[in-house]
Amino acid sequence: MHPIIELQDVRFRYPRANHDALRGVSFSVPPGAFLGITGPTGAGKTTLCHCLNGLVPHHTGGELLGMVAIDGMDAPTFSPAELARTVGSVFQDPDGQLVAETVEEEIVFGMENMGLTRSEMEERLVEVLALVGLESQRYEQNRILSGGQKQRLAIAAALAMAPKILVLDEPTSELDPKGTHDVYQALKMLSRRGITILIVDHKVQVMAEYVHDMLVIAGGEIVAHGPTHQVLRQDLSQYGVANPAVSKFGRQLIARNLWLGDVPVTMEEGLGVLEALRGQTASGMGQQGMNGG
Ligand SMILES: Nc1ncnc2c1ncn2[C@@H]1O[C@H](COP(=O)(O)OP(=O)(O)OP(=O)(O)O)[C@@H](O)[C@H]1O
Ligand SMILES: [Mg+2]
Repeated sequence: MHPIIELQDVRFRYPRANHDALRGVSFSVPPGAFLGITGPTGAGKTTLCHCLNGLVPHHTGGELLGMVAIDGMDAPTFSPAELARTVGSVFQDPDGQLVAETVEEEIVFGMENMGLTRSEMEERLVEVLALVGLESQRYEQNRILSGGQKQRLAIAAALAMAPKILVLDEPTSELDPKGTHDVYQALKMLSRRGITILIVDHKVQVMAEYVHDMLVIAGGEIVAHGPTHQVLRQDLSQYGVANPAVSKFGRQLIARNLWLGDVPVTMEEGLGVLEALRGQTASGMGQQGMNGG
């Protein structure tokens, strides 16, 4: 399948900066991927997101070298407004990105310049509210929503433009654990509908519960990229990223020859390992008992 996103040797330096923010980034993303992006502060994650939605180089200035292809388009030659029809963006600050008074107005706002009929807009409005679980908030004021609801509203507003790709830059950083899971849960639903999702997050444990692939960026370079299990087989602390506790524990079991299977990445898989080990211990004890007798 043709990749929906393809970067080749992308280099970028902000105006007046003395080092490159991206230093030869190459990767591709197949349609329908659910990709988690992580890396330490200053790694280049936001810069990478901005290469996809056109803010780099159109708003930032600076020269973007290499290739950024999105859905067959040479991205840097399109404005952020043009790219927004293909790439929906959700940012870190729940308040900063909402522009309207009410939930309904927020979602309609983005659609207004798309030349849709009233009934098409209504249809999309109802659909995206259901997708992010905000049906009953349709007539609410934005300001009374919780942080998690605001982020789901931002996702819904982006979705109303029917983008093929959704790029989220730390959408959960200001949310509590419940708000964080609600956002990921909404993304899981969208992923099932075939939307390509790229989410930047420092919360690797939560990320690993949901995403299918991970990309780790450090110092403007990709240091790991692949299926979640493959990426989490290595110790991410070498890149300045916290490991999910489950995988860290799993790797310790493997290092001590206590577990011969793959590294667990979700809580469910971690529990599966413990259950399998209990089974071994129980049969081992049974064996001992028989030998002893
Ligand atoms: N507007 C800017 N002008 C100059 N340099 C910038 C600008 N924005 C970011 N940088 C630099 O580019 C590099 C990458 O920054 P970026 O914001 O992409 O990192 P990040 O991985 O998103 O970090 P964080 O986890 O803190 O959000 C850093 O060295 C940063 O200082
Ligand atoms: Mg950032």
